[in-house]
Amino acid sequence: MLEKLLRKKTKGSDLSISDRIKNVKSRTIPSHVAIIMDGNGRWAKQRSLPRIAGHHEGMKTVRKITRIANDIGIKVLTLYAFSTENWKRPKMEIDFLMKLPGEFLSTYLPELIEQNVKVETIGNFDALPPHTKEAILKAVEATSMNTGLVLNFAMNYGSRLEIVETVKEIVQLTANNQLSIDDINESLIDAHLMTSHLPEPDLLIRTSGEVRLSNFMLWQLAYSEFSFTDVLWPDFDESCMLNAIEEFQKRNRRFGSVEGDNEL
Ligand code: IPE
Ligand code: IPE
Ligand code: MG
Repeated sequence: MLEKLLRKKTKGSDLSISDRIKNVKSRTIPSHVAIIMDGNGRWAKQRSLPRIAGHHEGMKTVRKITRIANDIGIKVLTLYAFSTENWKRPKMEIDFLMKLPGEFLSTYLPELIEQNVKVETIGNFDALPPHTKEAILKAVEATSMNTGLVLNFAMNYGSRLEIVETVKEIVQLTANNQLSIDDINESLIDAHLMTSHLPEPDLLIRTSGEVRLSNFMLWQLAYSEFSFTDVLWPDFDESCMLNAIEEFQKRNRRFGSVEGDNEL
């Protein structure tokens, strides 16, 4: 089945998925891709289904995109799965979203292990229900020795909360005289963020047509390339992922410097 998919010609391109993967791999690959997976509710609404049906379908996209990210050689894939603001949703939807990691991992953990994927998380873990924590921890432990793609779930993550926690830690160290004010610089702040062990995202993708960050990685995305698509998350597939990476490879990242040979 995978073979058939790889040979399939894709919309907007005369090349098969496997040829597009080959081409993408011959150029600079983003090390860290972060995705705001949005549009599950609208996908369900379009089909007169309950919102949770959209979340369930979105899980299949997580599987597809993890697999292709690993095939391409991306090092880290961060998926925004639940924000600190998503607690404002109806209880029934929250309960379902909290069950999803367990469901996803009980179905796909063996295949993640086989693909050498390492599961990690960022976010406020303590506030999650015990069954959600257990499911995630089990996957984190079972894959801790893997050396392939890091599949990083942002679960109960909020960038402002992360920054507040970072400030508190640094202020505490300063109050204890373990740190002086002159030691505070960008790398020190980086080192206290939840993403301290990860490279900054090279590419941010948001699905569903919304063009905003919704409290996602405000510090880390300072120089990332952004790719927005109208496609709803359950419809986002291998071809959409390749579109975003091909677009990224055409961008000219300057980081505040000048293009070319610095001639005056
Ligand atoms: C994204 O889909 C999933 C989460 C935020 C958990 P939404 O549930 O936000 O879907 P829309 O935006 O309402 O369509
Ligand atoms: C962002 O999507 C959060 C996640 C994808 C987990 P939302 O659907 O919650 O964002 P808003 O409310 O449209 O900004
Ligand atoms: Mg949404």
